Parts: sequence; C-alpha cells; structure tokens
Amino acid sequence: MTKPLDEKIEAGVEQLLQQMTLGEKIGQMTQVEKNSIKPGDIAKYGIGSILSGGGGNPEPNNPENWRNMVNGFIEESLTSRLGIPLIYGSDCVHGHNNCVDATIFPHNVGLGAAGETDLVERIAAATAQEMMATGVRWNFAPAVSLPIDLRWGRSYEGFSQDPAMISEMAAAYVRGLIGGDMTTGVLPSVKHFVGDGAASWGSSTRITAEQWELIESDPTLANAKVGEFMMDLLKIGAWQIDQGVSEIDEATLREMHLPPYAATIAEGAMNIMVSYSSWGGFKMHAQKYLLTDVLKGEMGFNGFLVTDWEAIDQIDDDFYTAVVACINAGIDMNMVPFNYMRYIETLTEAVNKGDVPMSRIDDAVRRILRAKMMMGVFDQPICDTPLSVVGCEPHRELAREAVRKSLTCLKNENAMPIAKDSAGLLVAGRHAHDIGLQCGGWTIEWMGGAGAITSGTTILDGIKEAVGDTAEIVYSEDGEFAGAKAKTAFVVVGEEPYAEGMGDRSDLHLAADQVEMIRKVRQNCEKLVVMVLSGRPIIVSDWIDEVDGLIAGWLPGTEGDGVADVLFGDHPFKGQLRYTWPRSMGQIPLGTDDGDPPQFLPGDAL
Ligand code: GLC
Repeated sequence: MTKPLDEKIEAGVEQLLQQMTLGEKIGQMTQVEKNSIKPGDIAKYGIGSILSGGGGNPEPNNPENWRNMVNGFIEESLTSRLGIPLIYGSDCVHGHNNCVDATIFPHNVGLGAAGETDLVERIAAATAQEMMATGVRWNFAPAVSLPIDLRWGRSYEGFSQDPAMISEMAAAYVRGLIGGDMTTGVLPSVKHFVGDGAASWGSSTRITAEQWELIESDPTLANAKVGEFMMDLLKIGAWQIDQGVSEIDEATLREMHLPPYAATIAEGAMNIMVSYSSWGGFKMHAQKYLLTDVLKGEMGFNGFLVTDWEAIDQIDDDFYTAVVACINAGIDMNMVPFNYMRYIETLTEAVNKGDVPMSRIDDAVRRILRAKMMMGVFDQPICDTPLSVVGCEPHRELAREAVRKSLTCLKNENAMPIAKDSAGLLVAGRHAHDIGLQCGGWTIEWMGGAGAITSGTTILDGIKEAVGDTAEIVYSEDGEFAGAKAKTAFVVVGEEPYAEGMGDRSDLHLAADQVEMIRKVRQNCEKLVVMVLSGRPIIVSDWIDEVDGLIAGWLPGTEGDGVADVLFGDHPFKGQLRYTWPRSMGQIPLGTDDGDPPQFLPGDAL
C-alpha cells in the first residue's frame, strides 16, 4: 500500500496550488529536453522539469559541466513568479551513465543474476550520490519490465522473468535512490507502466523499413546516431516489438506485470513512467482504466505519472485529441522533448473549452508539487554533494563487486578457475578490451558505442592486473595466434551496444565471425573458456559443445576487472540464471515449446 500522506506537505501543496494561474499549472505539467528549451522560457512558463534524453550531454561532457548545466536550469526556475524549483531528469539506469567518468554498474540483467537486494540498494544509493553531485534529482529508473520475448531490445533492463524477484530488486533500488525520505536522495521513476515486456513480435508500429522517408525527418531516431545503418537494423528486426501490443489477458497482466509497481509504491516511489506499449485496445498513455482506476484508485498511487518521450504524439494524428485523451486518462506530466509551446497552448485550449476539467489539472499539479515538496527542493533546490563523488574509488569497488557477483557460469569442464601461472594464457575478442562494448546501451550515448567512451578497466586490463608477471598473456582482437599452443584460452564475444527498439532482433545467434573466432582459437589451447557479453540469453547451441567453459557476463559496465576476480578463483562464481535460456529461436517467446528442452533453465548456473 502507498505511504500515508504528510499533513504539512499537503497543506503546503494546497496553499501553493491556490496561488497558481492556469498557465503556471500547465507549466508544471511540462517537461522539456534540455536542447529544446529557450532561454527565459523556464521562468516565463514555470516549466516543471527539464530532462536529458539518452546522450543529452553538455559539451564537453564531464561532471562539472553537467552540474553547471543542470544548476543553471534550476536557478532560472527560481526566478519564475512563484519560484517553484524545477527538477532535472535523466536515465541513470546503470549509474549516471550519460556522464563521462561516472561509475557504470552492470545493467539490470546482471544485477538480477547477482540476486542481492543489499547490493542493488547500495548501487542505487551510489548512483543517487553521483547524480546529485551534478544536480540531477530525478532518475528514470528502475525499469521493472518482465521480458517475455528476448528478441526485445530492452530485455537487459529487466532484472528477471520472475515477478516476485523483480519486485524485490526494484523495491531495493527505489530504497537506495530515495535514501530515507527523498530529501537526501533522488526521485525514482518506475517504468514502463504496464506490461512493456509482454508485447508481441511484429506488433510495434514505431517505424518500418518501408517508411524510410519518415526516418529522415524523425529527430528522435536521429538521436540514435546510427546513420546509414538504420536500414540494416530495420532488416534484422529493429522496432519490431518495442512499443508494441501486449496481448495478454488482465489476469496475466495482474499476476506477472503489476506486482513490481505495488512493491515500489509501498517503498515510497512517487513517480511512474507510462509505457509506449498498448493493452486492452488502447495505447497505455490513453488507458484510463489502468492509469486511473487501477493504479491511482485501486493501488492508491498518490505520486505523478509522466509520459514517455514524445508518447502523446503517438495517440492520435490530431494532437488536440491526443492531449485530451492522455490527460483525462491520468497523465500528469508530459515529457515533450521538442515542441513544448504546442503542448502548453493545446492543453490551455482544452481546459478553456472544458474538454479537460480544471479538477484534472489540479489533481495533476497537486501530485507533482507533492513529490517536489517530499524531495525538499523548495528548501534546498541546489544540491551540495561534492563532485569528487562521481566515479570515486568506493563506487568503482562496488561496481567491481557487482560484476563479480553477476557472472553466471553455465559450463565448466575442468576449465576454471584458470591458474594464474598457467603456461601461457591466450585472450581473444574485441569484447575483451573495449569499455563501450562491456557497458552496452544507455552509456554516454543513447545507444552506447564501442571504444574508450569513458573511464574504467577493460576485462583484459583486469586479467593483466591479476596475473602480473606470473604468466605470459597474449591478446589478439581477432583470435589470430598463429601456431601458439597454450593450456587455456579465454575468448570474449557478444552483442554490439543497443537501446530500446534499435535492439530488437529477429535472430539471437552469435554473429558468424565470432563463432568462427571461437573455432579458430580452439586449435590453440587445451581448455577453451568463452564469455558472452549480451543484454539477454543468446543462442549458443551451435557451438557450446566445442568449448570447455561458458560464462554469461551480461553487460558488466566500467569495472571489467571484476571478471578476473572470478576467472582465476579469487572469488567464486555467484551469478544465477534468472531467464529461461532458449536452445533455438523456436523457443521464443518464453513458454513456446518446440519439443526440445531449453538450453538452460533458471537455477542451472554452476
Ligand atoms: C525513452 C525511453 C524511456 C526513457 C525516456 C527518456 O524513449 O523509453 O525509458 O526514460 O525516453 O530518455
């Protein structure tokens, strides 16, 4: 059940609400992307929030510039007529991941494998501290998605396929972000309500290859910076399931996808982000039954609902109709990244015409002001957390601990632990020595990206540090070792970084050139250990019998040295499988039976 309201806060909210004009109320219901807001408009319209979308970074991208940018927006909000502080939001889904030199933790799929609520709570608290050092007080996390179809590009944002475990992990994450009573923490945004992970393949209407002319003019897709690869990605499944239709019945929705919302509301979550997906014949943003009757009524949620990025625009070709439908369905704040004046003017017209009752506006603003007062931003609008906390050693040690605990051993035929003095150790694969590849999506850029995109230690760095000079380590990015023979070879393969629908894939086999590399290195060693860095289980049945050891490394983040800690036996394997691992594409989505057993089941980790 939701936490009881604070009488003092409620009185403060009412007192402020009564002073507000309609324009100021609608201003609070407006969140604008930081590249779109015009100087002076925050004060002029009383804008409630500014956000960074994926990759919405200051230039140069560093903690000090982040703090100067964010505090500049907050300071402008204090000069508005009523001086209501804005709150700045960003996707800090695995650390303050847009900010260079921040600590990047394993994505949720790895934290689920680690399975420790205490660890998740400590990570969330560290993330909140790094955010607050740069003035960011609203985290668009945790995702509480339950990925049913692993072809979904957001599978790595899920902790598990078990609603009870997702609830535990998410509640711990919310506790860590809030940090007691939220005045010394940040506002979590539990997302994406509801059933975002239950969409059916092929049901998304976001974009198709046939709509190529739309791609050119879509600023959000342009923000993905995939350039000429867009058509290639569409051909391998991009945007086939993300934002699609969840065709499950209400009983399944309530049993599988609602519980984490109840758990996080009970922990004090005061914001929920609504899903782009659809259920029950409506896109979620216009789904009044679930948004208002169930979430705000039956479940007693007294925080506020924020849309997803530009989501209102998807509801109807007529923007006025879309705005009326969404606000009346229960949306309280619109994440309107670009044309905020069109939204402000449209909603003002709808209220003046009586299509949106003032009582709905007052309810929305009451919820927003309640959250802001609970955060203490009226008393302390500017954070004083020292910048030195960003990327600090204790946080990096915490991330390294999380990496260790997330590694999931799926096969080990006397191959691990590897002796540090083993006669020559061969290490192969791009993924063994690339910070960007080990972090995955939502890192510095929306889609993430290969290369030295931020500070940290690669997996190879960690191996060299652990072994020192007790053994010769030979590294080859493409697995070329000529005639070398070694006792053990360690090959790191995996997926390229992606986010959201850009990561939807029709085929989850490992890329052919990586399978070829595994087979090449097989000739150079007695024992061959393979680690897969991926946001989800991938198909390994075509090569798993040819290797002696297999580790699911998930998406570990910046502290790759956590891998060596386990590889050489300084720490035991601890990660558990939380997803059913398909043997073939014929076993996707979850529960599809093709007559064969899955490759692995939850609980199969060694
Ligand atoms: C994105 C995502 C959502 C994110 C938001 C802001 O499209 O769906 O998870 O929080 O926009 O970046």
